[in-house]
Amino acid sequence: MRTLTVLGSTGSIGTNTLDVVRRNRHLYRVYALAAGRNVDVLLPQILEFQPSVVALATSDGVRRLAEGLAASGMPRSQWPELLSGDAARVQVSTAGEVDTVISAIVGVAGLEATYEAIRRGKRIGLANKEVLVSGGKLVMEAVGEFGAELVPVDSEHNGAHQCLRAGNRQEVARLILTASGGPFRNTPKEALASVTPQQALNHPTWRMGNRITIDCATLMNKGFEVIEACWLFGFAPSEIDVVIHPQSTVHAMIEYSDGSVIAQISATDMRMPIQYALTWPARSEAPVPRIDWAEARKWEFLPPDLDKFPLLRLAYQCQEAGGSATCTLNAADEIAVEAFLQGAIGFTSIYEIVSETLAKMPPRSLHTIGGILEMDRESRMLARNLIAARAPGPVTV
Ligand SMILES: NC(=O)c1ccc[n+]([C@@H]2O[C@H](COP(=O)([O-])OP(=O)(O)OC[C@H]3O[C@@H](n4cnc5c(N)ncnc54)[C@H](OP(=O)(O)O)[C@@H]3O)[C@@H](O)[C@H]2O)c1
Repeated sequence: MRTLTVLGSTGSIGTNTLDVVRRNRHLYRVYALAAGRNVDVLLPQILEFQPSVVALATSDGVRRLAEGLAASGMPRSQWPELLSGDAARVQVSTAGEVDTVISAIVGVAGLEATYEAIRRGKRIGLANKEVLVSGGKLVMEAVGEFGAELVPVDSEHNGAHQCLRAGNRQEVARLILTASGGPFRNTPKEALASVTPQQALNHPTWRMGNRITIDCATLMNKGFEVIEACWLFGFAPSEIDVVIHPQSTVHAMIEYSDGSVIAQISATDMRMPIQYALTWPARSEAPVPRIDWAEARKWEFLPPDLDKFPLLRLAYQCQEAGGSATCTLNAADEIAVEAFLQGAIGFTSIYEIVSETLAKMPPRSLHTIGGILEMDRESRMLARNLIAARAPGPVTV
């Protein structure tokens, strides 16, 4: 039986993780849930999964949760321990009772708790992007030193993880990551400046959190995935290709040295990769739709348009540059995406803000989590200032 901490239980990956648990109660026990502030989603999760500890971002969240628990009628003796703040996330991910951590907080708020769980040698089902985009070098050194198992949950990396089982690492020539192309795949470049947040949030194949959905529309998300894949599997950026595959059914491919290409294919349902991260190296029945091979279908593969989606090219350049560049890339993008969602900047300005921030932020080497978080903070501040300098109204990001 695996004992889990779910970081980001109220989000898209978190709720899918708990659905996998719900269907396999005999295999998994939830020790702790960690969330930001969504008490409405968290409360029923507590009643159903009865974790021992719950960590929220703020003490106000804990107060609201306690009110909800009291109103629910749950006897106080059965309440979980309620914690708040940065240290609480680390506490629940490093607890001795826990052998597996699902890392599904959005943003750098998930970095330290995941890193510390790695340093305790736990299995990590990794969804959070920032862990490797911002802290790849430090995190992978810890994985090697402490023998942690880092199993990717993101469908593309999970697909690559599966394809890599077909041969030796020395026999691998290239990784091919697929991208749906997002909602603006067929939108002319000139029209992108005036697209709305609502249009950008309308992802054609996946339902996810807002940040990652906008990052899919700019192809920034695919750039982050290139960076993550470099760290996870030891590729140079030049060994990774991105292809647009609008059907999102082939998730990743590995080309071996003899020219043979192994593809991982499955329905667009995150419960399969989440479950794989829990069961690997074994597999078990997953509650996801199967591909009907009796039905005629067409799968397309197209090259990405890097002029229309320049953030993808920028991600390659940042990974080649090394050091703090990818940390700044992520921080600036997060601020620019929030500003776009608030209507403070246009869609194409996301790239402008990110590239301007990178140009103005002096790079440095990052050797500690504190150093990464400081770089992230400074990069965000710079991005905010750049937005404020151009936005007509007050910016609250
Ligand atoms: N969704 C996908 O299919 C998918 C696929 C691949 C990778 N990912 C990556 O996985 C991560 C999660 O994605 P998602 O789509 O599940 O995002 P999401 O739906 O926006 O959920 C984010 C989660 O993070 C929590 N959170 C935010 N700030 C926090 C803080 N300061 N302390 C504790 N918890 C905090 C949120 O809590 P509250 O809601 O309670 O505030 C929520 O539970 C992201 O890094 C994303 O890029 C997602």
